[in-house]
Amino acid sequence: MVKAASNKITKIKQQFPILQQEVNGKPLVYLDNAATSQKPQSVIDAITNYYTKYNSNIHRGAHYLAEQATIEYENARTKAKEFINAESDMLVNFTKGTTEGINLVAQSFGNTFLEEGDEILLSAMAHHSNLVPWQIIAEQKKCNIKYIPVLEDGTLDMDAFHLLLNKKTKVVSLGYISNALGTINPVEEIIEASHTFGAAVLLDAAQAAPHLKIDVQKLDVDFLAFSGHKMYGPTGIGILYGKEKWLTEMQPYQGGGEMIKEVTLKGTTYNELPFKFEAGTPNICGGIALGAAIDFMNEVGHDFIQKQENEVLAYGTEALSNIKNLHIKGQAKNKAGVLSFIIKDIHPYDIGVLLDKMGIAIRTGHHCCQPLMDAWEIPGTARASLAVYNTKEDIDRLVEGIEKAKIMLQ
Ligand SMILES: Cc1ncc(COP(=O)(O)O)c(C=O)c1O
Repeated sequence: MVKAASNKITKIKQQFPILQQEVNGKPLVYLDNAATSQKPQSVIDAITNYYTKYNSNIHRGAHYLAEQATIEYENARTKAKEFINAESDMLVNFTKGTTEGINLVAQSFGNTFLEEGDEILLSAMAHHSNLVPWQIIAEQKKCNIKYIPVLEDGTLDMDAFHLLLNKKTKVVSLGYISNALGTINPVEEIIEASHTFGAAVLLDAAQAAPHLKIDVQKLDVDFLAFSGHKMYGPTGIGILYGKEKWLTEMQPYQGGGEMIKEVTLKGTTYNELPFKFEAGTPNICGGIALGAAIDFMNEVGHDFIQKQENEVLAYGTEALSNIKNLHIKGQAKNKAGVLSFIIKDIHPYDIGVLLDKMGIAIRTGHHCCQPLMDAWEIPGTARASLAVYNTKEDIDRLVEGIEKAKIMLQ
C-alpha cells in the first residue's frame, strides 16, 4: 500500500468531474485511458462556451459569431501546431481522429504516389486503423504489404525491419506507441533508415500524443496523426500533420466545402493548405475543445505527465508481476503507461466484468490488434492504461480487485 497521492495529483484529479463518482458502490478507478481519456472541466467549459456564446459556421460568415468561431478554431490549430512543433499552421489538418488521418494519407498519398509493385511496410503490432487503410489502397494500386514482426517481449524485430526495407518501399507506417502493449517504438531509427531508401514515414501517434512531447521537425517524420479524445479532448476531432512537399502534391481526400478555390461545371481548383484536406463543415466545437485540452496538458506540463505516469507504471508493473499466474504482455524497456496482462486459465473478459463490479474500469479483448493476438495465440488481454490522474492507490485497487476476481474464477 502507498501513501496518499501528492497534492498536485489530487488537484489535477479534482478537475475531472467524472472521476468524482462512485460506480457499483465504489469510488471509480478509471484505467481505460488508451481507449479514451476523461475530460477536465476546462475542456467541458470550452464546449459549453462555444454552444452558449458563439456557435456559428466558420471562415465565410460576415457576422460577429462567425468571426469569433473562426478565430477560436484557427487559434486551436495554432495550439496544435505548437503542440507538435510543426513548421506552420498550414501543415496541421483537422480530422475526425487518427483513423481518418491515416485513411486520408493512405488514399491521397497512395493515389498520388503509389504504383503497382511498390511496397508498404507496416508492423504486426499495429492498430487496425493503421492496417486496414493500407490494405485497401494496396489492393487498389496493386502494391505489396510487408510486416515488421514483433518479438516475444513486445518490441519490433528491428533486424527484420532493416532487412525488409528496400528500394521498393514507398511508405512505412507504424505506431509511435503500441496501444495493446505500451511499447515505445524506436521511431527515430525507423524514420532515418526509411529516408535513406526514399520512403515516407507515417507515425500513428494516437497513444503518443497523451504521453510524450512530440516534435515533428526533430523526428523529421513525413506524417503524424493523433486523436483529441485520448489526450483529454473530445471525440470526433484529431490532427494530421504532413510535410509540405507531400501535402502540396497529394490529391484531395474528399471534395466539397472549404477545400475548393473555384468550382465550375467543367472542374474545380483546390484551396490552399490546410483547407485542401478539410472538406465540409468541420467539427468546429471539437477543434476549439482540442485547443483547451492542449492548454490543459501544457499547464500540467509534459515532464510532469511523463514522470507521474512512469512512476505509476513502474509501481504497477512490479505489483502485477507479484500476482501468481499473471503474465504481463509487453515487457519493452521503453514503455508508456499500459499494463496488458493475461492470467492462466482465466478469460480476460471475466476479469474485466468482475473488476467493473468493484468500480474499476479496464478494457479486455484484442484492442483492435487482432494480428498481434493471433501471432501470440491468445484471445486477447486485460489492459489497464494510465493517464496523468492515475495514482499508485489506483494500482492498489486494481491488484486487490484482480486477487478477488481470481478467487471467484479459479
Ligand atoms: C494506436 C492507435 N491507433 C489508432 C487508433 C484509432 O483512434 P481513433 O479511433 O481515435 O481514430 C487508436 C485507438 O485506440 C490507437 O490506440
